[in-house]
Amino acid sequence: MAHDKLRENGKGPTDVFKDKALRTDAPALSGIGDLMGGSSALAVNAKIIELQKQGHPIINCTIGDLGGEGIATPRAIIAATASALAMGKTRYTPIQGIPELREAIAKQFAENEGVNYDPNTEILTSTGGRTPIFLAIWALCKQNESVIVPTPAFIAYEQLINLCRVGCHRVDTKQSGYKLTPEAFEKAILDAENAWRPAKMLIINTPGNPTGVVYSRQELKPLMEIALENGIVVMYDQMYKTFIFNGEKHFNVAAFNDAAKNWTVVIDGLSKSCAMTGLRLGYALGNKTIIAEMAKVQGMAIGHSPSVVQWGGLEAFNGATLGDEKSLFDEFKKRRDFVLSRLGKMREEFGVSHAHLDGGFYALVNFPLVGKTYRNGDGKEIGIKGAKDVASFLVSEAQVAVIPVTEFSYPDEDGAVRISYGAVDVKQLGEAFDRIETVLRKVA
Ligand SMILES: Cc1ncc(COP(=O)(O)O)c(C=O)c1O
Repeated sequence: MAHDKLRENGKGPTDVFKDKALRTDAPALSGIGDLMGGSSALAVNAKIIELQKQGHPIINCTIGDLGGEGIATPRAIIAATASALAMGKTRYTPIQGIPELREAIAKQFAENEGVNYDPNTEILTSTGGRTPIFLAIWALCKQNESVIVPTPAFIAYEQLINLCRVGCHRVDTKQSGYKLTPEAFEKAILDAENAWRPAKMLIINTPGNPTGVVYSRQELKPLMEIALENGIVVMYDQMYKTFIFNGEKHFNVAAFNDAAKNWTVVIDGLSKSCAMTGLRLGYALGNKTIIAEMAKVQGMAIGHSPSVVQWGGLEAFNGATLGDEKSLFDEFKKRRDFVLSRLGKMREEFGVSHAHLDGGFYALVNFPLVGKTYRNGDGKEIGIKGAKDVASFLVSEAQVAVIPVTEFSYPDEDGAVRISYGAVDVKQLGEAFDRIETVLRKVA
């Protein structure tokens, strides 16, 4: 026995452990993180919070969260969550979520979106909206297939596609007003086929992050037809459906007909609509075979959304929060109109351009800075080559933090940045635009 031998040499098992404990190297990683690619957004955010704590007056327009004067999770949701806790509803629930919640979701979809879902088999509640995005890709796509992603797009799409080792087929939508056209969709299907990774899924996000686009029913119809003709599943992400400002009514593609419903996985949730990003309640709706497969993975790897959050979230469907939600919409409409008018003025003075601000709470803006130079605080001349440089110029010179378009599966040279007005109110936005105008004058 090895231990006996060691004892003969005067070393016991504890000594052996001590020898091993001397190693200073770290275990090798699987490499999964590299596969996903980097996202600097969270790191940037941590940096901003640190700078703010140190007293730097940074206005944070980076986050996809909700905040600012008067914005809070509806009281009825908080009360129901707290009461579920007090009543001891703190144990496992069904993986798909409590039946009461699934029934409430089904009722809302039938009444508001004209699609009937069976709450027992066609709805999966989950830990926020991004978990079902991941589960749907995982459940549906093989490694020799690809997902078509109109870009710029929510960064998690591409990273989760990579994580599933599936192909990500980006389609640049800038020239068509940041919307996927039927022609571009057909071309992407052919290109993916020619690259030996046929398309299995198309992601449509409306209202869009970071583009602010809202697809109309007429625009969606040909896209859905092409998807069905080619056997492509549509992942329809409508997380921002309660924030539509252009008068368009939100339309769910699953409502076209039964075939469309069967070939669509709808992603939705309460993170944005009820200002409950931290509570983690999202859901997917779709064909029962897909939902069952997603539930299988969720059950083993993730588990369900916290029990008390499900009971709290139920209130969002009971109408008790209507007053609060309405004011949430009004507040965001006010911010959006304000941002639009300030950008309009900047268009005239500086030639700033931007995507439509039809929905969501983001503005994708091109400040005409690429190719220009400025002197930083140390007197060093710095050239602005792309979106990352624009963002670092704005944070260092104007102390306004924004996210470069590179964080949305889009090339750096474009120079665009995303301004989020989700967590900053009109007063702070006014200050942010004043500061940006001041520094733009300096480089103009
Ligand atoms: C387009 C889009 N979909 C889904 C999500 C996921 O939301 P969460 O996981 O916070 O519920 C987000 C979050 O920012 C998003 O922007």
